[in-house]
Amino acid sequence: MEVVIVPDAKAGGELVADAMAQLLRRKPDALLGVATGSTPLPVYQALAAQVCSGAVDTSRARVAQLDEYVGLPADHPESYRSVLRREVLEPLGIAPASFMGPDGTAEDVQAACDAYDRQLGEAGGVDLQLLGIGTDGHIGFNEPCSSLVSRTRIKTLTEQTRKDNARFFDGDVEQVPHHVITQGIGTILEARHLVLLATGAGKADAVAATVEGPVAAVCPASALQMHPHATVVVDEAAAAKLEHADYFRYTFAHKPDWQGI
Ligand code: F6R
Repeated sequence: MEVVIVPDAKAGGELVADAMAQLLRRKPDALLGVATGSTPLPVYQALAAQVCSGAVDTSRARVAQLDEYVGLPADHPESYRSVLRREVLEPLGIAPASFMGPDGTAEDVQAACDAYDRQLGEAGGVDLQLLGIGTDGHIGFNEPCSSLVSRTRIKTLTEQTRKDNARFFDGDVEQVPHHVITQGIGTILEARHLVLLATGAGKADAVAATVEGPVAAVCPASALQMHPHATVVVDEAAAAKLEHADYFRYTFAHKPDWQGI
């Protein structure tokens, strides 16, 4: 796993957007796996700026959703489908037909999850999956003790995650759904490149457990240690509890320019 320590969230966003832009130049119809929440916003903003300036062409890019609330209508402003339309598809000029995601309103939730896993496979798999991380170490919404080989399925959010997400629901935790559909950890690990972005002091414990702790279901993000191409991009605050921070800085500073992340 490569760990890149950047000065702040903006620099992290630019670094990850550059990696996405490089991928799209190499493979114009790449399938980008996208996360929601606050952390990835600087990535989408930086990539949108590159699209506006003509530095990258997203006209053939495809986008896959990581997770979705169960029971929120697709047109609810906080359904992740709506959020991604607002924050990713529209600013990047990607057509709705190039977007895929699980159906959070399906009557048969497990059938919807299985269908989504199949759809990802038939699309050739995710080329680059952007991940945030929960304060409890979740990726997607694989909460602590999720199976490390899990597939897309329904999960129950922890109370902490519901509290963390209440800010998107007028601060009212009661409005945050209890259940989500999330790509499983096994599903996520099938992406060709995993990029986990974490910013802010609130993520420092989870980042340390992910990078320097044991691979353990109690910290779902630690599964990234098992992936051949995983990059963890952290700002100084989120890196504060990494014992090997100096080594990570040294390694990145001495990386050949052509290599990218
Ligand atoms: C959302 C998702 C979650 C978030 C995580 C961090 O699609 O997959 O794992 O990435 O909860 O959220 P923020 O970035 O809001 O701190």
